[in-house]
Amino acid sequence: MKRDSILILLWWVTICSKFEMVLTAEHKIQGASCHRLQESMLSSASSFKNYRGILNWCVVMLVLSNARLFLENILRNGILVDPIQVVSLFLKDPYSWPAACLVIVSNIFILVALYTERKLAMGSISEKVGLLIYIFNLTIILCFPMVVVLKLPSITPVGGAYALGVYTILFLKLYSYKDVNRWCRERTQAKARSLSRSLSYDMRIYIYYFVFAPTLCYELNFPRSESIRMGFLLRRLFEMTYFISNVLSIVFQWMVPIIRSSMKPLQEMDYSRMTERLLRLAVPNHLIWLIFFYWFFHSSMNFVAELLRFGDREFYRDWWNSETITYFWQNWNIPVHKWCLRHFYKPLLRRGAGKLLSQSAVFFASAFFHEYLVSVPLRMFRLWAFMGMMAQLPLAWFVARFLRGNYGNAAVWLSLIIGQPIAVLMYVHDYYVTHCQDDPTIAEAL
Ligand SMILES: CC(C)(COP(=O)(O)OP(=O)(O)OC[C@H]1O[C@@H](n2cnc3c(N)ncnc32)[C@H](O)[C@@H]1OP(=O)(O)O)[C@@H](O)C(=O)NCCC(=O)NCCS
Repeated sequence: MKRDSILILLWWVTICSKFEMVLTAEHKIQGASCHRLQESMLSSASSFKNYRGILNWCVVMLVLSNARLFLENILRNGILVDPIQVVSLFLKDPYSWPAACLVIVSNIFILVALYTERKLAMGSISEKVGLLIYIFNLTIILCFPMVVVLKLPSITPVGGAYALGVYTILFLKLYSYKDVNRWCRERTQAKARSLSRSLSYDMRIYIYYFVFAPTLCYELNFPRSESIRMGFLLRRLFEMTYFISNVLSIVFQWMVPIIRSSMKPLQEMDYSRMTERLLRLAVPNHLIWLIFFYWFFHSSMNFVAELLRFGDREFYRDWWNSETITYFWQNWNIPVHKWCLRHFYKPLLRRGAGKLLSQSAVFFASAFFHEYLVSVPLRMFRLWAFMGMMAQLPLAWFVARFLRGNYGNAAVWLSLIIGQPIAVLMYVHDYYVTHCQDDPTIAEAL
């Protein structure tokens, strides 16, 4: 019995040692191939692309550093946001609303366009007469609010900019209305005539639908969504109120103190301090621009589109990935870009103008409107906005020629982050010199 157990034990030990030998051999084989040809994850040659954790780290760092800035700002300045000052941005006198009156008056120009179009469709006036009426109407749309804003002392710069913004949008819309109706008449003259007679009441409603729709390009049949989604609408409404209050807080609490402290270095031409103030201003300015982008192109436009069941919601594309300046202008403001292509750029190309000339003409027109929207409300003509827009052409050439990929993307971001505050400081400085220097109360406030 004892001998049997010893034999079984020996047999078991032999089996186990053989098994271990097999395992060790396998381990040795595996251990032999623990290295392979591969790149480090952070090397650009590796195919690794998941930077989600690093993005989260950036957000955490951003929140922490901004929390510190926020606290420092409150401790240094106290609360600077004052509701009365916010209202005074729009109104000088609570009983006088000139900007709102100007917007109401704009209905006259819409009705002139509508009745011209009806007469043209019915053949009561010739194409030439129609064109003359349109030229007159569109010229007055740009000149009338400009004269009112320049001459009426009760209108504030912000109120003036708002009214001129509305008139500029109306100008672009009615220009598109004119072109599209002419194209339709040219295509099917007889059909358009009968359509205009039977749908004259609809035409009136439709032009107002177009005026309020979030597009600058007219169409006879806009794509429509099936219904209004209440949840979506309320979310956009909440964003609109939340972000506009954010912008006002950043302006009063963050930007105004920096601008005030920039006046002296600007007057003394102290370049090192000017650069320091410029870089300080760049952060809140850029933040406001980003918030404005989301507020206007996402929240507000989607809100209006949802309310009107307007189906085409492509108000912007991925401009943040721009590796060239050209890509940025093609994608950041789709309504304006679409209008430029359809009513200005392509017609110029079709008439035989070269690509560079057509692009320059579009940027020239855009520069004119940027200057118009800034200079007239501020009541001073300095051309900073005009030059900023025209500078986009050589900048686009430079970035496309010398920078690629991430470098190109960084150049686009840098032009946005640094370019805008330079223009802001220039205008604020000039506004101070022209309007406030002789006024001791304002000069003291600044
Ligand atoms: C000037 C501008 C319109 C050029 O746009 P772009 O897209 O770079 O122009 P492209 O040369 O690539 O051509 C665009 C279109 O014209 C067409 N095109 C090009 N050459 C053409 C020609 N000789 N004849 C007819 N069509 C032509 C292209 O096929 C293309 O058509 P698609 O849109 O149907 O694809 C654009 O940069 C722009 O919108 N700039 C102003 C933006 C602005 O001021 N925004 C204000 C925001 S606040």
